[in-house]
Amino acid sequence: MGLLWLFVACMVAQEVDAPRFEGKDALLRPVGYREWVFIGSSLGLRYDPEAAEKSRPGSERYHNVYINPSSYREFSRTGRFPDGTILVLELASAAQKNEPGLQGSYQDKFVALEASVKDSRRFEDVWAYFSFDEKDGTVKDKAQPFPKKACWSCHNQKAETDHVFTQFYPILRQARPSK
Ligand code: HEC
Repeated sequence: MGLLWLFVACMVAQEVDAPRFEGKDALLRPVGYREWVFIGSSLGLRYDPEAAEKSRPGSERYHNVYINPSSYREFSRTGRFPDGTILVLELASAAQKNEPGLQGSYQDKFVALEASVKDSRRFEDVWAYFSFDEKDGTVKDKAQPFPKKACWSCHNQKAETDHVFTQFYPILRQARPSK
């Protein structure tokens, strides 16, 4: 009986943070990710040859990145991302304070929600990439994977660890077991 409960408890624990799909590959919008492990934040970070001309102060966005807790624990043990890893990238607009006695930039409004999922059985290229943004600024409940060229290729070429930009996530670098 005790073992059975342990089994059920494990199933429930797994269910909570695993990516949820509809049909073959439509990812349901992750919920509860703000209780996941927060692995990093950047401001205005992007690969863009014309960035210097384009970026205006205040137009840059904050990027907040979360990982599901069970995959974080697995990564901490093995240094690898298991199947079922889901990473969420939430973008926020930046606002400035410039007044006597108060200076600096802070996150204002959430403006975009993206996710990546590792699943070698579901996706031919193992990792797949999704956006939950509607054109009118609202979020959708499910998303189809992007074509390879749109997201996967850059992650494949430039990300340090298995398509994930650990070079920008000190929390994952510290969590990884030392070789
Ligand atoms: C030209 C390169 C490039 C392209 C194209 C790209 N990304 Fe990324 N992506 C990055 C960088 C750099 C980061 C590092 C985190 C950040 O943005 O602060 C990142 C991080 C992410 C993360 C957080 C997890 C991780 O893998 O590090 C997600 C999720 C993500 N991108 C989704 C997408 C989606 C969806 C697309 C396609 C619509 C996309 N990306 C296209 C460069 C790219």
